Formats: sequence, C-alpha cells, structure tokens
Amino acid sequence: MKLNILLIGSGGREHSLAISLAKSKSCGKLYAAPGNPGIFEKAEKADIVTNNHQHVVNFCKDKEISLVVIGPEQPLAEGLSDVLTGVGIAVFGPSKYAAGLESSKDFSKRLMQTHSIPTAFYKSFVASEMFEAHKFIDTMPLPLVLKADGLAAGKGVVIAQSYDDAHNAIDSMFAGEFGAAGNCVIIEEFMQGEEASVFVVTDGTDYLILPPSQDHKRIGNGDTGKNTGGMGAYAPAVIANSEVLEKVKVRIIEPILKALRDSGNPYRGCLYVGLMINNSEPKVVEFNARFGDPETQVVLPLIKGDLAKLFYTAAIGIIEKDSVEIIGNKSAVCIVLASDGYPDSYNKGYEIALPKIEDDYSFIIHAGTAIKDGKLVSSGGRVLGVVATGDSLNQAVKTAYILADEIKFDNKYYRNDIAQKGFKS
Ligand code: AMP
Ligand code: GLY
Repeated sequence: MKLNILLIGSGGREHSLAISLAKSKSCGKLYAAPGNPGIFEKAEKADIVTNNHQHVVNFCKDKEISLVVIGPEQPLAEGLSDVLTGVGIAVFGPSKYAAGLESSKDFSKRLMQTHSIPTAFYKSFVASEMFEAHKFIDTMPLPLVLKADGLAAGKGVVIAQSYDDAHNAIDSMFAGEFGAAGNCVIIEEFMQGEEASVFVVTDGTDYLILPPSQDHKRIGNGDTGKNTGGMGAYAPAVIANSEVLEKVKVRIIEPILKALRDSGNPYRGCLYVGLMINNSEPKVVEFNARFGDPETQVVLPLIKGDLAKLFYTAAIGIIEKDSVEIIGNKSAVCIVLASDGYPDSYNKGYEIALPKIEDDYSFIIHAGTAIKDGKLVSSGGRVLGVVATGDSLNQAVKTAYILADEIKFDNKYYRNDIAQKGFKS
C-alpha cells in the first residue's frame, strides 16, 4: 500500500515529520504546505492556502491524498480534521472537539476533574466573574498560576510570585491582553517538580507511547529569562522512567481517551501529555492536540519503521503499533539556533552557511528559514535545530554542539546547557 500524504505546517516539528514520513515504506508522494526549505527537500510544495478548507479538500481530491498529517494546533482548533474526514479523507490529527484539550484549558481541566485525572487544583472564571476571581486569588498559596483559556501561542500563562502580580495579571487578561483567549481565565495551584513531555499516538482506543522527552522553554542557560517556543530538547527523559510511565498510562492516558470515546469524539492523532513529576508522581500540566516542538525533533529519531503506516492506521481507527519500533539504546538531542534578540525583537534575512553532513546520526532541521535570491536566509526567531543521536546522551550532546558551532549565520544564539538535566536525574 502506498499512501499519498499531505503534511500541514511549516516549522521544525514538520521538517522532522517530513524526514520520517519520506523514509516510510508506505509513503507514496509526500506534499507539504505551507512548508519550509528543509521540508521541501523531502516533500513537494502543495500550492494551497491551508486555512481555506475547501482549497485543502480540492487539493486532496486532485492529488489522490490518502492521509493528511496536521502538525500545528491552529488548523485542528479550526476544524480542518472534521472537514477532511467529512469527505472521506483520513486525517492524523483530532477533531475540533477532541482538540479542545488544547484549545480550551477550561474544557481540558473540567474533563480531568470529572475523570479524576491528576492535575493542579483550579477554578475558572469568565469576565463577569472578575470579583470572584480576585477573591479566589486571595485564598490561594503563592506562587500561583493564571492561564488564558484559549490558544495564545504558549504566551498565555503567568506564574505570579505575589498577590499584586496575580491581581494585575488577571485584570490584564480580562482586559484583552491575549485577545479572546482570555475571555475565560484559569487560576491554579503551582506544582513543584520536573517537567516532561509524553507523546501518545492513538486511534482513540489503543495507543503507543513514544520515548519521553524534555523541552527547554526559557531563553537563557540554567532555565533563566523569558519563555520561548523551546530552545532545545532531549530524549529519552530519564525522569519519566517506566514506573512513572505506568502511572501515566493508568491514571492519565487511559481515562482521558475513554472520556473522549464515551463522548462520541474518539481522539485520533498524537496526544501530547505535558507532565509535572514530583517524587515519581505525575500530574498533568497541559494536554496538546499535536506533537511538541522541539521535542518531536528528538523523539522521531528514536523510532524506526513505517511512521506513515502508524499514522494512517491510527487515523482510520485500527492502529498497527508494530508498524514502528522504538530504538531503546540511543539518545537524541536538539539544540535550537535562534537569532539573538529572540523572543523579543530580532532581525531576519541573515544568510546561513550549512556544513555538509556526512553521517547518518546528525541532521539539521529548518524552523525559521527561507530562500531569498537563491540563498538560504533566516526568516524567524528560531532558525534551525541541530539534532544528533548517540549511544549515550553524552555522545549525542557532544556531536550536536560540534555541529551547532559549524553552522554560520550572524547573531546566532543558542543555549549551552541543553540536556544537562538528563545527567542529573
Ligand atoms: P502551559 O501552557 O499550560 O503548558 O504552561 C506553560 C508553562 O508554565 C509550563 O510548561 C510550565 O513550565 C508552567 N506551568 C503551567 N502550569 C503550571 C503549574 N500549575 N505549576 C507549575 N508550573 C506550571
Ligand atoms: N514544546 C512545547 C510545545 O510544543 O507545546
């Protein structure tokens, strides 16, 4: 069986997906939109506007697409999966309802509470309940966490260290700091522990857990400075060991999949479980309705086999988990190369010189790049991801940093401590 596949998205995550899909036995023709120069080394550009659903449907019919893989959250929240499945096209990516696990924190927290899934204690408030929200803040211990309900590109979370900060933050959220995403606000308890990301590929009932990973969200070494889209990742994350993962299965994954199934909206795609782990006890920080970025860049190199078949069988509700095999004795590291100034203001258009890679254990992932006048240039804050695999985490880290140094562009910035947490645990 050969599947023609359309991949939606344009970041590092989608470049990684494109690499793994392109080498899958079941992959026929691979198309991508909007894509990036790295993705277009593996996939043909689909000339479509991805938020025009009819456009996407017409393209799929024209090119006999059997599977659409949706990378980012926005198209899922806009119901692209529903539109495509409605015309008989298999989609790896959940329905709008199931994607509510990410697009509405209120929905997600309520579902967790109803099904006794471990997560931070919380209450949610709409703007007309502002008075109650302020009162609730005063009853909570510090620090406390405030979150805009809707999608806010990872920016809608405030960790308040003082009551003044918390009161101000809630006022700004209700005043529209995050647009409509802040029409409803979640106030929750701060959880101690260490974070890890677990990806679950599922057909709604059966599932496969991929190697756990850890992101590095802050811009500076030692997890300091502003939050970013992610400055690096490594896998497997030892903190999420087999004892922890067993608890995650029984207490989190199985109840949430059952809850969605019972509601008539089985979850099909990749469920991202963001965990806080304290003394081997996992709690949910957040669910995302998609693969993580940059975690995907380190998780996929630890999987061999036919990813296209895994995705397709999950999408049609009969997942064949043995389509892939998890490589147990390797580690992977991704270092994000950003433009200095990110996540605030930074320049674009720097010419990039890439070294030629001669081995098959390291590679360069494009995130914010473009071709201008025939040259590769930076076009975003996070420009590239350098990925290396190795027999040990130490080896993978060393290889990745050598490669990161060899890549040249002006104002290149990266953290020097990616994966160090993996040596401490
Ligand atoms: P979220 O968008 O919900 O993943 O939150 C963004 C980041 O804020 C998380 O990755 C955590 O680092 C932090 N965070 C969110 N909620 C909590 C919480 N209840 N306790 C501690 N840290 C949190
Ligand atoms: N790496 C965090 C995310 O993908 O949401």
